[in-house]
Amino acid sequence: MTAKIIALLNQKGGVGKTTTAINLSDTLAKQGFRVLGIDLDPQGNFSKVVSGGEVRFEKNVLQLFQKDNNVDISQLITLSPHSDDFFYIPTDIRLSRVIESGLTLSFRELRLSKHLNSVKADFDFIILDCPPNLSLTTTNAIVAADLFLMPVNSGVFALDGLEDLLDALQEVSQGQELHYYVFRNEVAAVNKKINNAIDEDLLEIASQRVLRTTIRRSEDIGQASFMYLPLSQYKNGSVAINDYRALVKEITSLL
Ligand SMILES: Nc1ncnc2c1ncn2[C@@H]1O[C@H](COP(=O)(O)OP(=O)(O)O)[C@@H](O)[C@H]1O
Ligand SMILES: [Mg+2]
Repeated sequence: MTAKIIALLNQKGGVGKTTTAINLSDTLAKQGFRVLGIDLDPQGNFSKVVSGGEVRFEKNVLQLFQKDNNVDISQLITLSPHSDDFFYIPTDIRLSRVIESGLTLSFRELRLSKHLNSVKADFDFIILDCPPNLSLTTTNAIVAADLFLMPVNSGVFALDGLEDLLDALQEVSQGQELHYYVFRNEVAAVNKKINNAIDEDLLEIASQRVLRTTIRRSEDIGQASFMYLPLSQYKNGSVAINDYRALVKEITSLL
């Protein structure tokens, strides 16, 4: 086998990249897929949840971006306490300084991709949680990934910046065919009018690239992360779990 690499991407913060990365990874692992989740955001929120509440990590993705560090990526992988098939490489705030010093590295955009080549055979899916900007770790994720998933939330400014993001993606990928999909996160059932307006605009910007699956707004989803748990572990009967299952189903049908 060789892993499919999926990046959660959007230069806007707070749209659901990390939450989706956590629950998508967890859902895949619970279905028996071997999953490696990698935290590329110095905020480290993905790491905190998948580790069950740790905040500082010695085995750290930052080692992949350090000058003169020849670490073997397999040495950085840890098993999540939440699932037998869910592994991760965490990070913390110290990554931000490493990114800045790494801007002078040669072939800097290729680092992650090269490292992943040596572990791709060990996993079915590699999930990359990106920071809310287009910094060095995001460009590394763009080079490495086979599929891009872009959550948009349901606020008034939901789609601002989406066109820029698609442009940036095009630029970094240098003309290669791109497999990107936009999906709606935090969809509230109450306001049909707003939902329809966002759907229409989204179709205009991303046409064929909008997933059928949407993730509902659910108190359980937020609460779970707050308790450093994936949703399935926090509340096994939560209806929102179905949304992540639907997401898995749709994504696997696309690959
Ligand atoms: N579907 C959802 N329902 C309820 N809250 C959500 C949902 N998705 C995300 N959130 C909450 O929104 C906030 C931002 O989500 P997060 O995944 O951290 O965004 P990003 O990684 O894009 O910055 C978090 O507090 C998270 O718990
Ligand atoms: Mg995040």
